Amino acid sequence: MTKARWSAPALAACALTIFAVAGTAHADGDSAAGKTVFRKCVACHTVQANKHRIGPSLAGIAGRTAGTSEGFKFSDAMKAFGADGKIWDDATLDAYLADPKGVVKGTKMAFAGLKDAQDRADVIAYLKAANGE
Ligand code: HEC
Repeated sequence: MTKARWSAPALAACALTIFAVAGTAHADGDSAAGKTVFRKCVACHTVQANKHRIGPSLAGIAGRTAGTSEGFKFSDAMKAFGADGKIWDDATLDAYLADPKGVVKGTKMAFAGLKDAQDRADVIAYLKAANGE
């Protein structure tokens, strides 16, 4: 009995740790829902390494400097954004996906943006979960 009383909190602590490691500032993002949102991106993007379409591969995008996916010809605007030290973290991804041309003036990503904050959080969660695929 004593053992059972201790193991439940231990398990809970363990689950919390996993969440803390896998989670993000936008911890409410749901990668399964994000996969559906990503359908709006697949005409131009894959999550497979080095597989570029009209847009660059988004494999390993989280934490990478903007405009540095190897083998893709970025706009000068995106290269300048990256040269300015911009890294794709939750905040920069959220801002760019909300208003691509507003955040990176001159970006060649012809996408109006995701107006719904939940859609953005979900697709960001999906991109992270798809890392390394
Ligand atoms: C019509 C094609 C198109 C669609 C649709 C599109 N993108 Fe893009 N995306 C691009 C292009 C082209 C670029 C390169 C932009 C540049 O160089 O200015 C890009 C760049 C990006 C980048 C920066 C990549 C890097 O390595 O710096 C991210 C992140 C991104 N797109 C995410 C998304 C997501 C998420 C969606 C769907 C919600 C999406 N895009 C929809 C064409 C598209």
